[in-house]
Amino acid sequence: MRPVLRRRDFLALAGAVPLAAAAPAPASRLAADPHRPQYHLLPAANWMNDPNGPIYWQGKFHMFYQYNPNGAFWGDMHWGHAVSEDMVHWKHLPMALAPTPGGPDKDGVFSGCAVVDNGGVTAIYTGVNPETQCVATSGGDLTEWKKFAGNPAIAAPPAGLEVTGFRDPCVWQEGDTWLMAVGSGFRGKGGAVLLYESRDLRRWNYLHPLVTGRMRAGANAKDPVDSGEMWECPDFFPLGGKHLLIVSTERVVKYMLGSYADRRFRPETTGGIDYGSYYAARTMTNTGDRRILWGWLTEGRSAEAQRAAGWSGVMSLPRELKLMGAQVQMRPAAEVETLRGKRLGADAAGDCLEVLAEIDPGDAVRAGLKLRAAPDGSERTLVYYDREQKRVCVDRSQSSTDLSADRGIQSGPFLLGRGEPLRLRIFLDGSVIEIFANDRFCLTARVYPAGRRSTGVALHADGGTAKMVSFEAWEMRPISPDRLTS
Ligand code: FRU
Repeated sequence: MRPVLRRRDFLALAGAVPLAAAAPAPASRLAADPHRPQYHLLPAANWMNDPNGPIYWQGKFHMFYQYNPNGAFWGDMHWGHAVSEDMVHWKHLPMALAPTPGGPDKDGVFSGCAVVDNGGVTAIYTGVNPETQCVATSGGDLTEWKKFAGNPAIAAPPAGLEVTGFRDPCVWQEGDTWLMAVGSGFRGKGGAVLLYESRDLRRWNYLHPLVTGRMRAGANAKDPVDSGEMWECPDFFPLGGKHLLIVSTERVVKYMLGSYADRRFRPETTGGIDYGSYYAARTMTNTGDRRILWGWLTEGRSAEAQRAAGWSGVMSLPRELKLMGAQVQMRPAAEVETLRGKRLGADAAGDCLEVLAEIDPGDAVRAGLKLRAAPDGSERTLVYYDREQKRVCVDRSQSSTDLSADRGIQSGPFLLGRGEPLRLRIFLDGSVIEIFANDRFCLTARVYPAGRRSTGVALHADGGTAKMVSFEAWEMRPISPDRLTS
């Protein structure tokens, strides 16, 4: 993702270059922007990236996220804040955490997590520059935060370790011990997660790497995130009888499923969380037996187009993770169904829809759906299973006549069993297309059709004949009257 490269440059420059605040886009323009989602969470304006510290607390779901108050570009990271009673309708709250001048987070409050402790909520996040781990506490409605006077709680990576990064803590409790996983890696070797322990969430003791990866042979990108030598945003938790580790690296979000014993994680299988415009996934804490996953839906158009729009970045819908046998199941949380409005028939059309289609690929080489199609054929997006490539693909070559949009094909590995139909569950919301296939594959695409009439939905088959076995669609209800999700 290009913004990340820019963020690295920013890290090098932070402090040396004043940040130019862009003139804010007027709310009326944002509210009229057809590319702005209507039922996904996003800030009322400006830039957002990673979900931070999502937590269920005192009967409400709180979402924090990386936020730049100065415009629709990355920089000057704060924690934005929104609250919800059902994970789909959100209310914006004042900024939760801002950099403290002269403090360890003076150049940015980077990503982290939140846990319930001692009758309140404790956030553990990365302060920059340099990268350190910091602590802040709150209670009640989580709008007032107090930073720990002893920050940084962890001032540097473990002595003697040359790491490619040291950020994005994920904290959990085992008995009366707190464990912290920090995203890291080793140059020329691969990504890693460093494990710490604590009794009080403030004094931390380094143990060892929870797990280390092996970078792709021949990877030579300069940025350690791109080459796989740095794992960002680790998230680690039990799932079924196993443990799941999620990391963001090489521009995708991967999971490793395996066993955890003696405070070491041994991955057994691996897969992708989402193969599209999606990054920095993190699960919500304190949700009992449910594992709710959130991710940052990245933009698919130029930095200039993002600035001009006055907003950038969207939060995914909540996804619920389960282990079914050896398979990681990924489905939209049931709460999302409460957004279903008018039920549509076979002639369904729109840009704010849920579509549920079961397709028998027959002898077609590629079978799926055509979406956001213009009546004159000038624009369309194809979502299909390619039986030869064994992949689910999104063809965006004609998604948008706006040349600032990414026109590439996005895809990920997927295999239909013998006789298994393709079951697509797709959420269209302005420029967002969140795709779930057969409860085990996700890909988010961003498209920016210029035509107001690019709303058609149809069966797509290529190299043979496919059959629509069943088709259902709903108009989705906006979560706010003005596309500002407030
Ligand atoms: C991931 C990331 C994190 C970092 C944050 C900064 O997108 O690079 O590693 O904490 O974004 O905004």
